Amino acid sequence: MTYTIGIIVASDKGSRGERVDRSGELIREMMAENGYEVVEKVIVPDELEDLKAAMIEMSDVKKVHLILSTGGTGFSPRDVTPEATLAVIDRETPGIPEAMRQASLAITPKAMLSRGRAGIRKRTLIVNLPGSPKAVKENLEVVLQALEHGLDILNEEASECATPMDN
Ligand code: MTE
Repeated sequence: MTYTIGIIVASDKGSRGERVDRSGELIREMMAENGYEVVEKVIVPDELEDLKAAMIEMSDVKKVHLILSTGGTGFSPRDVTPEATLAVIDRETPGIPEAMRQASLAITPKAMLSRGRAGIRKRTLIVNLPGSPKAVKENLEVVLQALEHGLDILNEEASECATPMDN
C-alpha cells in the first residue's frame, strides 16, 4: 500500500512569501525517495487556529495517512505547532518524539529545545518536526525506521506485533 502524505510548514515569513521553503521541500524529497506519495503541502503562519484547521482538513477531508509538520516547535512565543497538534489528536504517540529527541541529542544538545509531539487523529498520524532543513533530515531519518510498520498497524494492513498470547 502506498501511503499518502500531507506537509504543513509552520512559518510566519514563509506564509507571507518572505522566505523560500526549503524544509517542506526536503520532506517532500525524502518521503518520495522512500516510496510515499506527497499529495499536498501548505505553508501556514504560526497561528493555533490556522495550524489546527490545516491538520483537520488534511486528516478529515483529504484523509492522508500521515501529516508531517515542520517548524514552530521551539520556545518562541509564536511557536504553537505542538499545541495545535495536541488539540486535534485522539491519541498521543510519545515514542516518536522520544526517539527523535534521543537520536538528535547525540548530534546537538539543542535537540532538547524542540517541543515537537506526535499523535493519531482517526486514521491519520501527525508528527511534528523542527524547522531547519538540518533538523528535518536528522529527525525524519529516525521516524522512517519504524514509520511503515506503524502505518500498517494503524491502517490494519498488518496484524499487531507479538501479542501477549504468543509463545
Ligand atoms: N534536532 C536535530 N536533530 N538537529 C537540529 O539541528 N535543532 C534544534 C531542535 N532540534 C535541531 C534539532 C533547535 S536549534 C531548536 S530551537 C528546536 O529544534 C526547535 O526548532 P523549531 O522552533 O524550528 O521547530
